[in-house]
Amino acid sequence: MDKELEMKKIMEEIENCRMCELYKTRSNPVVGDGSLSADTMFVGEAPGYWEDQKGKPFVGRAGKVLDELLESVGLKRDEVYITNVVKCRPPNNRDPLPEEIKACSKYLDRQILLIHPRTIVTLGRFALSYIFEKFGLKEEKISKIHGKVFTVSNIFGRFRIIPLYHPAVAVYNQNMKGTLLKDFKSVK
Ligand code: URA
Repeated sequence: MDKELEMKKIMEEIENCRMCELYKTRSNPVVGDGSLSADTMFVGEAPGYWEDQKGKPFVGRAGKVLDELLESVGLKRDEVYITNVVKCRPPNNRDPLPEEIKACSKYLDRQILLIHPRTIVTLGRFALSYIFEKFGLKEEKISKIHGKVFTVSNIFGRFRIIPLYHPAVAVYNQNMKGTLLKDFKSVK
């Protein structure tokens, strides 16, 4: 499979997607960013204001936290892949609706198949719910399982799933930053 070509196709489909209402209010869809042969894929929730403006994931305040976390384990943005469950910004950064997640998740599924990361890191509860269900894992409270490594084998191979708190929780809370920094060691 030509990964670049397939990702280009996914991008074009997302640009023209009308499967939910979010295309009406977004400025730019946010498909994802990083290496198509990444070992580690980060899955967030949905674009916020700056992501919608720039068409790139995690470029606002939560993105700054994510950059620090990546740096703490010596990872660069261009060696991982970063995306979201929902590709278009929900108005006023509200939570994505179940029907929006359902409509959009086929793109994330295709990105996972294409990149075939060894590790999927979920950022926040929406990514946790979606990925855990997808991989047949029993969802538990994030406060209980953050930073733990779950190993799953299926017909596509062996994956490590690591649920983390969303980096936005650390924007104004140094304790949470400490927790995230500690949990990030599992990513390494
Ligand atoms: N929050 C997310 O979940 N994703 C982004 O891309 C930015 C903020």
